Amino acid sequence: MIRTQILGLGSYVPDRIVTNDELTFLDEKHIRQDTVQTETNDAWIQQRTGIKARRYVPIGEGVATSDLALEAAKHALADAGLEAKDIDCIILGTLSPDIHFPGTAVFLQKKLGISSQGCACFDIRQQCSGFVYGMQMADAFIRTGMYKRILLVGAELHSHSLDFTTRGRDVTVLFGDGAGAMILGPMESEDPRSGVMYTAAHADGNGAMDLYLKIFEIAKAPYVNYDARDRDENSTKYPQMDGKRVFLNAVRGMVMATNTALAKTGLTWDDITWFVPHQANLRINEKVAEVAKIPAEKVLNSIEFYGNTTAATVPLTIDHWRKAGKVKRGDRILSAVFGSGFTWGAAIFTL
Ligand code: UT7
Repeated sequence: MIRTQILGLGSYVPDRIVTNDELTFLDEKHIRQDTVQTETNDAWIQQRTGIKARRYVPIGEGVATSDLALEAAKHALADAGLEAKDIDCIILGTLSPDIHFPGTAVFLQKKLGISSQGCACFDIRQQCSGFVYGMQMADAFIRTGMYKRILLVGAELHSHSLDFTTRGRDVTVLFGDGAGAMILGPMESEDPRSGVMYTAAHADGNGAMDLYLKIFEIAKAPYVNYDARDRDENSTKYPQMDGKRVFLNAVRGMVMATNTALAKTGLTWDDITWFVPHQANLRINEKVAEVAKIPAEKVLNSIEFYGNTTAATVPLTIDHWRKAGKVKRGDRILSAVFGSGFTWGAAIFTL
């Protein structure tokens, strides 16, 4: 029967490394000031989140989310030994689209130089769970024979929409820019454990306003009400979060998703090479590993280098550790994610 295999993997992060100490002094154009702009410090950030640094795109060079996606896509295509023209479907997960509409996948398609071929382009808005949601879509499309070469990308440009004042510090310290991509295609196999073995995607809209970024409200006219001098109004430009509620639900959601993935597939940790959780907070991942009894040596994190890159964290983490020589082709990965929505899910796949 037709199953889905991963043909290629790639990732991209911008060159600029912003350490916790530097972030304290950055203004909204990411220019270092002499005085503290955001009252935070390296010790607090490391102790509560495990983050040491994150990457930011250069300001003023017109870099968009689709540009980060493009670089990751190029690496994934090269890894698969394919060219952009081979792609017949793009699925792109992001919470930081280039513009409100059209979706970012069409901008990526154009930058890949394949617009005239007219391949299907999907944008999915499932935030930190976007990559696993996208993998479930890709797997269903491939198993039904709908598409044969799917480019699945998670890409985020957070650094332009963060509040570089003490008011926004709970969120600003967490996020970074980056992208990760996979190419997925069909294979003939009777082995139920091969390729993409399992995917699950869930949501609970009761948590929708525990982590959100408004910018506009279509239910209101005018639907954008932004006044730079009004501190309360201009907060609609920035992400808002009830950190403790997100933390607790993230642990619960990822533990549940992980245990269900193992129960439904009949696998044990002996069958899994790596556990790759979403990278929102190292403390969340430590708690998930403890509660779900995941062997510590199987857990892969990359948050200390990149912060939270939402839809990009899963492929970025896998590629980071593949470049470091740890992850190899043929390894079986269990990934669990949780994010704004609330949304969560899990996937088990062989690289
Ligand atoms: O993909 C999903 C995305 N997000 C998440 O998963 C985030 C989940 N939540 C978290 O990671 C944590 O809630 C945070 C790291 C965001 C915050 O940690 P916390 O232990 O929940 O801190 P808190 O919000 O309860 O704040 C404790 C104190 C407060 O000060 P007071 O009121 O005790 O004086 C905050 O104002 O820490 C202060 N604080 C900070 N101090 C220094 C909050 N953010 C910062 C900061 N630097 N960046």
